Amino acid sequence: MRELGRRLAKLLRAGDLVMLSGELGAGKTTLTRGLGEGLGVRGAVTSPTFVIARVHPSLGDGPPLVHVDAYRLSGGLDEMEDLDLDVSLPESVVVVEWGEGKVEELTEDRLQVVIHRAVGDTTDEVRHMTITGLGERWASADLTVLIA
Ligand SMILES: Nc1ncnc2c1ncn2[C@@H]1O[C@H](COP(=O)(O)OP(=O)(O)OP(=O)(O)O)[C@@H](O)[C@H]1O
Ligand SMILES: [Mg+2]
Repeated sequence: MRELGRRLAKLLRAGDLVMLSGELGAGKTTLTRGLGEGLGVRGAVTSPTFVIARVHPSLGDGPPLVHVDAYRLSGGLDEMEDLDLDVSLPESVVVVEWGEGKVEELTEDRLQVVIHRAVGDTTDEVRHMTITGLGERWASADLTVLIA
């Protein structure tokens, strides 16, 4: 998952929104950690307990990574608006866990990553992923580099 995050980082640029879906422990944060490594940003990507959005500035001249865990956000768009993601998105890569129904209004262009994990089998470390590019931004993007 981490390696996939690293590969995904190569496709991303400022203004990109990535939505990560999948049950608790599916690997959303793990993927984001790899993404942060691939983008070369400062600070370890972690599962926030209280912090809902964390900005990881680039160590080079790339875009910062804004990592949002919206799990504890219940109020939908009002609470989301307080995060000012619309302000940071144009110059950042924004990755959101648990963002369904909360961040879609930010942009029509987004990469939708769904992580499936075999339910009930705790020994199964294998994840299956569905990655869908939505909107103009991703219309002609070559996502096969992720599986090469
Ligand atoms: N193939 C795998 N990919 C990702 N994580 C894995 C894999 N195999 C085992 N794991 C473990 O599963 C856990 C995934 O946790 P992670 O925090 O990334 O999930 P999450 O989807 O962010 O969960 P949450 O919904 O609580 O935020 C980690 O402890 C990780 O070590
Ligand atoms: Mg997480």
